[in-house]
Amino acid sequence: MTVRKILFYPNERLRKKAEPVEKIDDKEIQQLIDDMFETMYEFQGGGLAATQIDVHKQIIVMDPDKSQKLVLINPEIVEKSGSSKYEEGCLSLPGVSAVVQRFEHVKVKALDRNGKPFEIESTGDYLAACLQHEIDHLHGTLYIDHVSPLKRTLLIKKMKKIMKMM
Ligand code: NI
Repeated sequence: MTVRKILFYPNERLRKKAEPVEKIDDKEIQQLIDDMFETMYEFQGGGLAATQIDVHKQIIVMDPDKSQKLVLINPEIVEKSGSSKYEEGCLSLPGVSAVVQRFEHVKVKALDRNGKPFEIESTGDYLAACLQHEIDHLHGTLYIDHVSPLKRTLLIKKMKKIMKMM
């Protein structure tokens, strides 16, 4: 397993749309998933999208409560309702976080790492926010796109200051 390099904002490759995975039973894909977990744990993230390591395939890994490894391939939100606010951070925007408005409830359809279809749903908790945040990445969207322009400017300024110190 290898810790991969994470793309940081404002890298334009974070804006690239990910392609669906056609063949999951593939050594390269399985290796990629292992590397994504390794990278996510190394930087203490709750989730990671392949986009963030410059691989533009629809793959997400998550471990929102540090107890179960979740892999979502070709994920799709099939149900959404309500609204809720969550404090979110992102490994691609080190050192900052912001409150983001999201759907309160989501149901997501995806394939697991063996290519088996499954559904996962969540209401009003960190998992619900995490699912929306990571699926956004696959579409080239970042959580800062969901906050006001003023807030965004402040966040980016703060992040750049922090990154200079790293
Ligand atoms: Ni993120």
